[in-house]
Amino acid sequence: MTVYRSLDLFSGCGGLSLGMSLAKNSKGDSISTACAIDIWEIACKTFEHNLGLKPLCEPIDDDLIRRVNQENGPFDIVVGGPPCQGFSTAGKRALDDDRNKLVLAFLRAIEITNPKVFVMENVTGFKTFQNGKIHEEVVLFAKKLGYQVRSAIVLASLSGVPQRRKRFLLVGSKVGAFKFPGEQALPHDENLFESDEFSLEKFFVQKPENGTEKWTFNDATSDLPALKAGQRLEKYKTPPKNSLQEYFRKGSELPLDHFAVGHREYFIEMLSYIPQGKSALDPEVQKTMPKKLRPTSGFKNSYQRIVGDAPSPTITRNFTTPSSANCIHPSQDRALSIREGARCQSFPDWFYFLGTTDEKRLQIGNAVPPLLGKAIGESILNALIESKKTKTKA
Ligand SMILES: C[S@@+](CC[C@H](N)C(=O)[O-])C[C@H]1O[C@@H](n2cnc3c(N)ncnc32)[C@H](O)[C@@H]1O
Repeated sequence: MTVYRSLDLFSGCGGLSLGMSLAKNSKGDSISTACAIDIWEIACKTFEHNLGLKPLCEPIDDDLIRRVNQENGPFDIVVGGPPCQGFSTAGKRALDDDRNKLVLAFLRAIEITNPKVFVMENVTGFKTFQNGKIHEEVVLFAKKLGYQVRSAIVLASLSGVPQRRKRFLLVGSKVGAFKFPGEQALPHDENLFESDEFSLEKFFVQKPENGTEKWTFNDATSDLPALKAGQRLEKYKTPPKNSLQEYFRKGSELPLDHFAVGHREYFIEMLSYIPQGKSALDPEVQKTMPKKLRPTSGFKNSYQRIVGDAPSPTITRNFTTPSSANCIHPSQDRALSIREGARCQSFPDWFYFLGTTDEKRLQIGNAVPPLLGKAIGESILNALIESKKTKTKA
């Protein structure tokens, strides 16, 4: 049984590290985060509080990575989600643009530490940013370092997360082939999975109808007590009703931060008119409510009520603000509580977020869902088993 050592870059509150620590392969191999780095102090404190490892709270650059590699390396695995925004870089190389410097810092970290496998996670737009230039350059960079590269958009709900969250993953392996979480659930297609990893056509979007989404919002939260807006009730309403709730509650006495932010009276009344899956901006919903309550503007997901019998929508930092996100409880007239947001992200109840309510929301919304992290860890461990087999044969 091998324990592989991982370096977690841009580690946030530790969603990805927690998830990877839960992964095992058939040989009993596992992954331990040997070093984590993030510039955000409160997220580093949350990481340390829950995972018992103090991240380095410093900006990531070559000097820091060289030092870390010398003092704490070697690393078998490097993971991380360098922040990246879409913008145009007409003419010049995308990786030379200062606004992409954290993506370059991540790649330089791979070059310096030379892990067996690396995983870069990002927003789903990563593939199309700058007309695909940044993606192409990242693939080329990794290929030159000797990695086999594959990229995909994965859907967290196919890995046991009670949320339809999509993330972009780019994986480089110097060992066995890497299969994406949920890939096995899709109909087998040799052309799609087995041929040239670098072709843009190999990029695929997993579709829920082809896979198996295990858990709904109600499955994830039905043991928590009902709340009114502004109320905090940190106790369980019932014993766990399914294995997901057992996972949440193992090692936890109380659902800390089952707390819903307050709303004004008129706002709560407005929420009461919105059916599941609909928004207060839908004309047919507006017809049902008094004129004075009707909101007149918003974003695509504003004032929308979650469907209880489906995985939750993506949990963003705005999951307590109905005017900016799809976050109204399926049957209660309020936004999600902090604990409900954390559960939709598949954080167990013992995982406690430090900081203000705003800082908690941001740490939760930023995180890789731990159960997706676990699936990513299992895929990495399976790729590592492949390399052991090859070595044994030789
Ligand atoms: C998407 S979040 C990471 C979430 C994390 N992987 C998880 O699962 O919880 C990105 C993180 O990058 C960090 N960050 C941004 N710029 C940084 C820099 N220059 N050096 C180190 N960390 C940085 C932010 O503080 C933020 O926590």
